[in-house]
Amino acid sequence: MKEDLSNFRKVYKKSQINFNGLKDPFVLFEQWFKIAKNDKLIEEVNAMVLSTIGNDEFPKGRVVLLKKIYLNGFVFFSNYNSEKGISINKNNKVSLLFFWPSQERQIIIKGIVSKTSSSFSDEYFSKRPFKSQVSAFLSNQSEIIDSYSKLKKDMDIFLKENKNKKIKRPKNWGGYIVKPFEFEFWQGRPDRLHQRVLFSLLKSKKWKINILSP
Ligand SMILES: Cc1cc2nc3c(=O)[nH]c(=O)nc-3n(C[C@H](O)[C@H](O)[C@H](O)COP(=O)(O)O)c2cc1C
Repeated sequence: MKEDLSNFRKVYKKSQINFNGLKDPFVLFEQWFKIAKNDKLIEEVNAMVLSTIGNDEFPKGRVVLLKKIYLNGFVFFSNYNSEKGISINKNNKVSLLFFWPSQERQIIIKGIVSKTSSSFSDEYFSKRPFKSQVSAFLSNQSEIIDSYSKLKKDMDIFLKENKNKKIKRPKNWGGYIVKPFEFEFWQGRPDRLHQRVLFSLLKSKKWKINILSP
């Protein structure tokens, strides 16, 4: 395979960061998120890349969906026995990345991840569509399977046998909450003079703000 993308170039000029008055990264996140939510060019505004360090010591990123922001934390749901789950068990330092091309914006968060309480996970699980509950129950996420058709068949059999039954949240499925200690906001600007602002959480719980070179 061969590909030359050296002529792919975009001029970024959509917006700019007003560095005056920055205080709290959650406030800036909320502002940017609100704009992104209303941007029709963004299909899944809550899609974010979760990066973990694996037991093989390699980083791995994959998309998960942000489902809630509360207690100054970012919540997503997954299988606790998946590759990411196993990585998190060993190393709770993770990063989240949002990229909204039409806004020419990127946000990178570093934080500490932990499981949400089981009651919180139960509540969210109970609100999922029935078939999503069943697939969470049937899928041993990240494990090698014999075939996709076998999985489909298992799903069909399960659905037939469990019509209208209430599905309990599997113990190996639930929420994670990422508590940020660093936010980096990137705004594309003309001539590659992009704007970057880094918020770092100090021991005093105040946020230190630094402007970074593009
Ligand atoms: C748009 C999109 C949304 C996704 N949302 C989730 C999610 O919320 N939770 C999840 O566990 N996997 C989600 N996935 C699948 C993950 O990217 C990944 O394939 C899966 O979690 C297994 O990752 P792992 O083997 O590294 O643990 C999503 C994938 C895409 C492309």
